[in-house]
Amino acid sequence: MDKLVIEGGVRLKGMVKISGAKNAVLPILSAVLLTEEPCIIRNVPDLRDVHLMLRILRFLGVGAEFDKGKVTVCAKNIKSYTAPYNLVSKMRASFALLGPLLGRLNKAKVSLPGGCVIGLRPVDLHIKGLKRLNVDIDIVGGYVNARTKQLKGGYIYLGGEFGSSVLATANVMMAAVKASGTTIIDSAACEPELVDLANFLKEMGAQIKGEGTPTITIEGVKALKGVEYKVIPDRIEAGTFIVASAITKGDITICGAILQHLAALIDKLEEAGIVVEKTDSSLRIRRKREFKPVNITTLPYPGFPTDMQAQFMSLLSVTPGVSVITEKIYPDRFMHVAELNRMGAHIQKEGPHAIIEGVRKLQAAPVMASDLRASAALVLAGLAASGKTEVSRIYHLDRGYEKIEEKFQKLGARVWREKEA
Ligand code: EPZ
Repeated sequence: MDKLVIEGGVRLKGMVKISGAKNAVLPILSAVLLTEEPCIIRNVPDLRDVHLMLRILRFLGVGAEFDKGKVTVCAKNIKSYTAPYNLVSKMRASFALLGPLLGRLNKAKVSLPGGCVIGLRPVDLHIKGLKRLNVDIDIVGGYVNARTKQLKGGYIYLGGEFGSSVLATANVMMAAVKASGTTIIDSAACEPELVDLANFLKEMGAQIKGEGTPTITIEGVKALKGVEYKVIPDRIEAGTFIVASAITKGDITICGAILQHLAALIDKLEEAGIVVEKTDSSLRIRRKREFKPVNITTLPYPGFPTDMQAQFMSLLSVTPGVSVITEKIYPDRFMHVAELNRMGAHIQKEGPHAIIEGVRKLQAAPVMASDLRASAALVLAGLAASGKTEVSRIYHLDRGYEKIEEKFQKLGARVWREKEA
């Protein structure tokens, strides 16, 4: 296993180009199952999760090649409709194979993804939604067995106790595009990654309206065609570099992000005292004055994204005053708190709340990554701390950040990868 070693205290400066969005490309790669024709997908980030999804697609019989950000896939000859536990358990996103397998074959057997450190990760909404499309589902031996004689459109209310569900909306959408008749998804997730999936499906010939709003209407079609498509930029990677500029008191220009996708984050940063200069394709992030504490509540899009909660907590750890983070999507998504406190932060967890009393400086320390965004938070803390921080188990980081140490090195950071003893 690798670790990242960070000699903190450098004010990061320069320009960083944002890669393609992990959470858009993963469901889009699942959607290629819906056509026998080849697809070419561009702006695909070189990530562990992307290569795992390609491995699962090959297991199903899909031809899949990755070449410098371009993926060529062809699902002409599917040889299996089972997504096995040993692969699905490594990446929850592969549960979104259920919908397209049903859309293509009227059957699917997908392992339950299981929980992870950020929460139980239930799939009840996925199952509820697919059942409303005339799918028979039973769960045996940790697998979801789904089959139907004919997918039929219908009305589905997809809201859960934590609001809408991104991948449940994706699963239902990818089955409904091949159902007979009209499907209405009410309380659908509005995340930009779902809009990207809908745009991909529409390029293929699907009839979808309302994507990006809580009500999506889909008219089923008989067949979908192969397409070429370019994936949107990753708003969470962009947000992570925005926080990197703020926490190191630097001056970073973020290129290629879509401003609208970052509205909630930018709003909070400006409230905290960060200068955000916007052009139509870039963002320049500088400090205006001493930071002010802010309170954050994570919500479904367009609210403050849960995937930016940990990174923002690192910034608030060195913001004078008391800030409160309330995690409404994954109330247990606080694995980074203990590690930040080992670096001298003063954070208390009270149920779904984290109370953060800002300190002047974090101290370098050996810390351990537990999940993708917690790892990013620890790297950001290490960049701000004086001394040498070692972040172990950074395979978590490699799941969702492309060439992260190279991008930080180009901004002046003293960071390198080492083999763990
Ligand atoms: C997607 O996960 C993202 N992953 C997550 O990003 C992100 O944190 C999450 O959406 C929320 O924005 C991908 O897109 C691959 P949900 P997803 O279903 O779809 C509850 C990252 O760091 N829920 O929108 O699995 C659930 O427990 C990852 O890139 C149910 O109750 O999340 C949660 O509380 C981490 N029943 C809330 O809904 C269900 O059937 C939102 O979850 C499904 C979800």
